[in-house]
Amino acid sequence: MPRLVVVSNRVAIPDPTGKGSAGGLAVALREAFQAYQGLWFGWSGRVSSHPSPEPKMVDKGNVHYALMDLTSIDRQEYYNGFANRALWPNMHYRLGLSEFSRADYAGYLRVNRSFANALVRMIRPDDLIWVHDYHLIPLAAELRALGVTNRLGYFHHIPWPAPEVFGTLPGSRELLRSIADYDLVGVQTDLDADNLRRAIMQEVGATPQGSDVLVLNGHRTRVKGFPIGIDVKGFQQVARRAPAHRVVTQTLASLGSRSLIIGVDRLDYSKGIPERMESFERFLVSNPDQRGRVTFLQIAPTSRSEVPEYASLSRTASETLGRINGTLGEPGWVPIHYVTSAYPRSVLASLYKIARVGLVTPMRDGMNLVAKEYVAAQDPNDPGVLVLSKFAGAAHQLTDALIVNPNDKFEVAEAIREALHMDLDERKARWQRMMKTIQDYDVSWWADAFLKDLSGYTGTSKARNRVRIGG
Ligand code: G6P
Repeated sequence: MPRLVVVSNRVAIPDPTGKGSAGGLAVALREAFQAYQGLWFGWSGRVSSHPSPEPKMVDKGNVHYALMDLTSIDRQEYYNGFANRALWPNMHYRLGLSEFSRADYAGYLRVNRSFANALVRMIRPDDLIWVHDYHLIPLAAELRALGVTNRLGYFHHIPWPAPEVFGTLPGSRELLRSIADYDLVGVQTDLDADNLRRAIMQEVGATPQGSDVLVLNGHRTRVKGFPIGIDVKGFQQVARRAPAHRVVTQTLASLGSRSLIIGVDRLDYSKGIPERMESFERFLVSNPDQRGRVTFLQIAPTSRSEVPEYASLSRTASETLGRINGTLGEPGWVPIHYVTSAYPRSVLASLYKIARVGLVTPMRDGMNLVAKEYVAAQDPNDPGVLVLSKFAGAAHQLTDALIVNPNDKFEVAEAIREALHMDLDERKARWQRMMKTIQDYDVSWWADAFLKDLSGYTGTSKARNRVRIGG
């Protein structure tokens, strides 16, 4: 049985108290690591003035965690800079927000190289290596340059934009050449796969082989959609438990007979939070009978606050909130409740279950697991309604949601009205079909499908068989 080596920017070490809220990737990989001996390599999240070139090792069960510190310049250039100020906005179609700097790009490449240098010493010849997300696109090229011949897989959790959009980013050609050093590249949807394949062919001259394989310099790369799922059973169990947490009991008490609409997102401009508030405002203006009868709760944990565009979004969200609550609120009723704290999974599951409407309206999103969690948490006998942006990867699967264009506030307002008035039979029928999809394509399916493809796939890398890596 080969060992599974996972590489990601953030590494989620299990919380010994069990109280922490495991992120999506941690939950997804927990399943994968049950079948394999594992190593999880990445950034420790810490900054130090003289980071060791060797990772710090932490052992938990059958998984070894290898953690690298970064310098504050690394963090600024690689994480805040190129990954989150250039790549992230570009890949979410926000070209006006994409800030390229040569120094940041050099920092991004430097951190990828130093990760490769540390990782190469730990790799065994038959390890399966699975790299995650946009922070680490060049890692395969760096590992190949060091002689690594192992199967290398990459999963891209965020959207892959159209070639015309990606092509505006300086360095994009080099990134496309280096992504072709992986054997298998997984993306969330068929649209993302098509965008990436077209870019690799048009920009760096790869030739197609069959429907999803590209050949560049003799190396074959398969590019394919693997929509990520959730731990459905685990989430349902959490949702079924009694709502013991203060936040849940207080929400229930303050609602009284009002309906709850819920949104849960990191505070990120790709999530369309101020736009969503304005759609809710439009709903209240168009449906005055609903004032005082419905509350919108937006949970938006603060994220990447050192990046200026996020600080500016935070101000915009607060101003929009204040304006709407000030103009439409009444004594005894606040239309929008807005909190920037992060809550544990159990609290979110209980709130999803209480909410009549799940409002998931990102301007662009790789998948959006909140949409899936909202559906999984519902009471089968009285399910709520999901309103979902057509620009979330989840909309490719959850076609029984009320699908909306988040740029059209009237359309979103109308969907909110429809969701609140939908009869029980239709709610149940839509929910059952969405639930089936979520169960069929859960997180175990996702990890198994990717790893099965990766382990069974043979790229004819020229580098392969040239150098053996010691164990
Ligand atoms: C997205 C990315 C992840 C990232 C997460 C949180 O989901 O796909 O790679 O970890 O956002 O962002 P952060 O910058 O806090 O890691």
